[in-house]
Amino acid sequence: MCGIVGAVAERNITAILIEGLKRLEYRGYDSAGLAVLTQDGELQRRRRIGKVSELEAAVVAEPVAGRLGIAHTRWATHGAPTEGNAHPHFSGHEVAVVHNGIIENHEALREELKGLGYVFASQTDTEVIVHLIHHTLKSLPDLADALKAAVKRLHGAYGLALISTHQPDRLVAARSGSPLVIGLGLGENFLASDQLALRQVTDRFMYLEEGDIAEIRRDQVRIWDQGGREVQRETVQYHEGAEAADKGQYRHFMLKEIHEQPRVVQRTLEGRLGTDHVLVQAFGPQAAELFAKVRNVQIVACGTSYHAGMVARYWLESLAGIPCQVEVASEFRYRKVVVQPDTLFVSISQSGETADTLAALRNAKELGFLGSLAICNVGISSLVRESDLTLLTLAGPEIGVASTKAFTTQLVSLMLLTLALGQVRGTLAAGVEAELVEELRRLPARLGEALAMDATVEKIAELFADKHHTLFLGRGAQYPVAMEGALKLKEISYIHAEAYPAGELKHGPLALVDNDMPVVTVAPNNELLEKLKSNLQEVRARGGELVVFADEQAGLSNGEGTHVIQVPHIADALAPILYTIPLQLLSYYVAVLKGTDVDQPRNLAKSVTVE
Ligand code: F6R
Repeated sequence: MCGIVGAVAERNITAILIEGLKRLEYRGYDSAGLAVLTQDGELQRRRRIGKVSELEAAVVAEPVAGRLGIAHTRWATHGAPTEGNAHPHFSGHEVAVVHNGIIENHEALREELKGLGYVFASQTDTEVIVHLIHHTLKSLPDLADALKAAVKRLHGAYGLALISTHQPDRLVAARSGSPLVIGLGLGENFLASDQLALRQVTDRFMYLEEGDIAEIRRDQVRIWDQGGREVQRETVQYHEGAEAADKGQYRHFMLKEIHEQPRVVQRTLEGRLGTDHVLVQAFGPQAAELFAKVRNVQIVACGTSYHAGMVARYWLESLAGIPCQVEVASEFRYRKVVVQPDTLFVSISQSGETADTLAALRNAKELGFLGSLAICNVGISSLVRESDLTLLTLAGPEIGVASTKAFTTQLVSLMLLTLALGQVRGTLAAGVEAELVEELRRLPARLGEALAMDATVEKIAELFADKHHTLFLGRGAQYPVAMEGALKLKEISYIHAEAYPAGELKHGPLALVDNDMPVVTVAPNNELLEKLKSNLQEVRARGGELVVFADEQAGLSNGEGTHVIQVPHIADALAPILYTIPLQLLSYYVAVLKGTDVDQPRNLAKSVTVE
C-alpha cells in the first residue's frame, strides 16, 4: 500500500520526508521517492526501487534541500516497480504529484492529454493527474482551483498531494477513497496518508473527509468540502494512549484490538472500492490479467487465518461460482497435491512468517499453480515478498496473541477477492457486486453496532466461567465462524471447545450434551435458520443450555435454558464478519473471569516461525 508525506516549513524538510516514509514502511511498498522545491525555485527529485534506506542513501550521495516537498512509497498497481514509475511524477518540471489509490479512467485521460501534446514518462495511472493539473493551470492559475476542477475528471480512488514551482509557498491535497491527514506545526504544516508518519513533528492533526480539497501553507490551512464550500475540520490532539503498542483505556490488547475493528476494516476497504465495484488493480499490476485466467482457487493457511479461508470458500463458490479448496498449511505442504488447471494459490496470514504457510507457498511454486496471492497484514513479510500478488489487510500491529482484527480484515479482503474474481471472470450475478460494495461501505458502522453488545456479552460470559466444555454450532459460512469462536475460547480461557456444523450434531456430538455443556450458536436470518432452529430443539431436549447470537429478525427469544442475544441485521453475505464480534467478546470476558493471561496465553506464540 502506498504512503504519502508532504511538508511546508521554514527549515529544510528533506529529513522530515524521509523519516515520515520510514514510519510508513510497515504498509509494504516496492519503491520510494521525494520531490523538493529548492531555494532556486527548481523541482528536484530522487527516486529509488527498494527500501526507503536506498532513497536516503541517494539523498546523502546527491543532497537536495528545500522548504516545500512531497514524498511517497509506492506499491505498484499500474506499471512495474521501476524507478521511472516511482512517484513523484512531474509535468513540465513545474508540477509534481504523489498519489495513493487508482485512477480508473486513466487510459482515456492519457489519450486526451497526449492529444494536447503531453509526453508520458511512466506507465502509471498517476501521471495523468499531474499533466491534467498542468493543463488546467493554464486557465486556472491557482493550484487549489486547478485541483478542484481537475478532480471532477478523475474516476476511482485517490489521496493525492501536489506542489508547483508557481506557488512555492503551499502544497495542495485531495481525498476521495484514500485517507489523508494534515499535521499542524508551529509555523509549519504537514500532510500524510497516516498520522503515524508525522508523529516526530507534531501531535495535532486534522483529518480530511471524503471529497475534501486542502491548501496547506506554513501559517494557514484551508479546506473545501465536496460541494466546494470552505469548511473547518476539527483539530485532534494525539495522546500517547492511542499508540498501537499501548493499551490505552483498555485492560488488555485483545479488547483494544476487538474495538479497533470498525476503523481497521474501514482502512482495509479504503482505496479499493470504486462507485459500484471492487478496484481489481488493488491486487497489483498483473491482477486483472491473472484473474481473467482463474478457474479454481486453492487457499492455504493456519489457525484463525485458515478459518477466514473457510469462509471464503462459501463466498467464492456461491457468489463468484469459482470452485475453491481450503487446507491447513501443515497438511498441504506434506501431501501429494493434484493441482487443477488454472488454479490460483491464495495464502492467508497475519504475520506473513508462519513456517507452514511459507513452506506451502514454496511448494506450490513447484506444483504448477497459475500464480500466487498473499493476503497478509505485514507488507515486508516473506510471504508478501515471495508471492506474485498481494492484498494487504490493514489491521495495524496486532499485539494480543489471539487474532481478532486480523481475522475480520482478512474476511473483508477475501470478500474483495471474491468480488474481483467474479467481476473479471464475469461470473457474478448482475447487480450483486454493486449491492455488496454498498454493504461493505456500511460494514464499519455495523461492526460499531455489534461492539455495543459488549456489556450484554460480558454478562452472558458468567455462564461459562465454571464450565469445562463448550460446543459451538453454525451452518453454512457461519460454520467456520463457529470454529473461530471455539478456537478463541480454548486459546485464552483454556475451556475445551469444539465447533460443529449444526446438522452434524445428531451424528455424534449430541451424546455429549447435558446441563454442564453450554452450546453457543450463531443464527443469522438466512435460508438455514429454520433448520438451525430444529438443531437447537435437539439440544434443549437433552438439557443443554443454549446461548444463541441471533439476527434481530430471526424470531428467536429467551426461554428456559435459552439465552438469545440479538445481533443487528446485516446482509447474509457479510454476516460471518459481524457475528465474529460477539464471539470474540465472549471468549475475552470468559478469560477475564477465569483470570488467565489474555494477551499471552500459555504455550502459544504470536508468530509461529518454526514448524
Ligand atoms: C489464533 C491465532 C493463530 C494464527 C495462526 C496463523 O488466534 O492467532 O491460530 O492465526 O498461528 O498465523 P498467521 O496468520 O500469522 O499465519
